[in-house]
Amino acid sequence: MPPLPAAIHDLANRWQTVDPRFGRPNAPPIELDLGCGTGGFTLALARRYPERLILGADVLLGRLRRLQNVVRQGGIRNVELMLVNNLELIGFMLPDASVRRLHLLCPDPWPKARHRAKRLATSAFFTHVARVLEPGGVLHLATDHVPYHESQQAVVEGLPFFRAAPDAIADLAGLETDFERKWMAAGKPVPHLAYVRISES
Ligand SMILES: C[S@@+](CC[C@H](N)C(=O)[O-])C[C@H]1O[C@@H](n2cnc3c(N)ncnc32)[C@H](O)[C@@H]1O
Repeated sequence: MPPLPAAIHDLANRWQTVDPRFGRPNAPPIELDLGCGTGGFTLALARRYPERLILGADVLLGRLRRLQNVVRQGGIRNVELMLVNNLELIGFMLPDASVRRLHLLCPDPWPKARHRAKRLATSAFFTHVARVLEPGGVLHLATDHVPYHESQQAVVEGLPFFRAAPDAIADLAGLETDFERKWMAAGKPVPHLAYVRISES
C-alpha cells in the first residue's frame, strides 16, 4: 500500500485525544464533516469560508486520498482530513466544546431491519455530539431516507441539549454533498435539519 499522505491525520485504531486545530496557533471556528466521503461538500464549504477550519472525517482511505489530492492541487489551506471512525472521534477523541458546527450528511441509512444497529444517529451518538459542540454550536443533519430522517429528528428532539434552528444553516445555501446531488438527480428529496446546542444543559 502506498504511504499515507502526511496531510491525512491517521487516527484509526489510535486511542488518544486530538487537538482538532492540528497545530494551528490561533483557533479558527471549526466545522466537522462527519463521513465526508468524496468530499464535495467539504471542499465547497472550505472554498466559501476560507477563514474557517473544515475537518473531514471518514473511514475510507481511498476517498480521503482522492480528496486530499484535490485539496493539494487546489491550494486549499483550511481543510484537514482524518482517517477515523466517527464514533471514536466523537466519543472521546475530540475535546469538549471544540466544534462550532457538525455536519452529518447522507450517512449510510442501513435500511434493513437487521442492520439497524449499525446506524450512527442514535441517542448515545447525539449525546457525544452535544459534548463536542461549543455552546451555541450547530448540529446539521440531512438524509434522503425518510424513516432515518424521522428517527433522527425524534431522537435529537427528545434530548435536552438541542433546539431546532433552521436558520443556523442559511449560510450553506447552494452547497450540496455528492450523495445529495445524486439523490436529487434521481428525484429524491434530501431534507435538512439544524439544531443549536443549548448552553445550559
Ligand atoms: C453515504 S456516504 C455520504 C458521504 C457524504 N457525506 C455525502 O453526502 O456525499 C457515507 C460516508 O460515511 C462514511 N462512514 C460510514 N461509517 C463511518 C464511520 N463509522 N466513521 C467514519 N466514516 C464513516 C463512509 O465511508 C462514507 O464515505
